[in-house]
Amino acid sequence: MGLPNQTTLHMNLIEPIVAQATDMARVRRDIHAHPELCFQEVRTADLVAAKLTEWGIPVHRGLGTTGVVGIVKGRDGGACGKAIGLRADMDALPMTEMNTFAHASQHEGKMHACGHDGHVAMLLAAAQHLATHRDFDGTAYLIFQPAEEGGGGAREMIKDGLFDLFPMDAVFGMHNWPGLPVGTFAVSSGPVMASSNEFHIVIRGKGSHAALPHNGIDPVPVACQMVQAFQTIITRNKKPVDAGVISVTMIHTGEATNVVPDSCDIQGTVRTFSIEVLDMIEQRMRDIATHTSAAFGATCEFAFNRNYPPTINHAAEAAFAREVMAGIVGAEQVLPQEPTMGAEDFAYMLQARPGAYVFIANGDGAHRGAYETGGHGLSHDVGPCMLHNPHYDFNDTLIPLGASFWVRLVEQWLAKATA
Ligand code: NI
Repeated sequence: MGLPNQTTLHMNLIEPIVAQATDMARVRRDIHAHPELCFQEVRTADLVAAKLTEWGIPVHRGLGTTGVVGIVKGRDGGACGKAIGLRADMDALPMTEMNTFAHASQHEGKMHACGHDGHVAMLLAAAQHLATHRDFDGTAYLIFQPAEEGGGGAREMIKDGLFDLFPMDAVFGMHNWPGLPVGTFAVSSGPVMASSNEFHIVIRGKGSHAALPHNGIDPVPVACQMVQAFQTIITRNKKPVDAGVISVTMIHTGEATNVVPDSCDIQGTVRTFSIEVLDMIEQRMRDIATHTSAAFGATCEFAFNRNYPPTINHAAEAAFAREVMAGIVGAEQVLPQEPTMGAEDFAYMLQARPGAYVFIANGDGAHRGAYETGGHGLSHDVGPCMLHNPHYDFNDTLIPLGASFWVRLVEQWLAKATA
């Protein structure tokens, strides 16, 4: 297994981490080959705990079911009382991998298509260096979290006492991002990921013969009006400068061409960058659903479930992360982070503590070609396939880069906090 040549990239990587990079890439590929879904990360958590223990790092297990926290005290044994948290997510996705390289998933229907295997490897590499050198005062908490992909593992770890057991002054998370060239980072203050919410509406009308519609209450035109009216919330009620999206993604009704159905089911998602906009959208949707139904003589049931809140970076911590990145790759390689309407449960940690959620570039996808057996390179789908794509793979080149960032962040943040 070879790592791509990094000598041309002019990065201030930490040499002992670079020296371990091939071993850590092997760990990453082992995790990739054995993906585990939300709250089932038993093998992964065992592997993480074993590595941390091997390096002399005390381990706390079981927060959020399979969560692992490693505790690294600095030169002062943590006496100064300052602490920083670094978080990696551990779970895979319920999808089938289409890569054919040697470390492809061994479990059909499960795949590390979001690079959480790499997030674990980067934090492990940082943990090994922090425990060996302890070139800081205070405490670094290494948070290996379950169930980011819809399970709210971050929320569950917090509920189980993460921040009570391990009081920390700031917390940081990092995700890989395909497409951007390796050696670049992205970070911004303010909202970077959206709140994620689902709605489920049932319109209750009255079935009838389709040739005698006057005998019934047809839910189909009610649904049509409702779906159109929802978009006026975005264009007429939401301030144009605020971000928000309503997507109706499912409409189910009817079984025959000659029968007016009894009811119609409408489902979809709402994304926003603020709770205020979300409150407004939910209220307006409820009003439109209820009153549109009433206007046609139908009734409706309206359910709105809030999943992850928006992920909002704190300004000071985002700026600090940017400085640390600039010290490793140069200021011009640290890009502003364009917010996306995807969602991320690190949002809960940022509601509880100051911090930032940052991106590390995963490259142009060429690394996947190097893994293909037979030396033919990629025969299909060349390029930087996005997260959650069945051809995705984490780029092992990032392990020493991401780990160097984590280590420098700990050292520099605690140096500032204890100054
Ligand atoms: Ni992810």
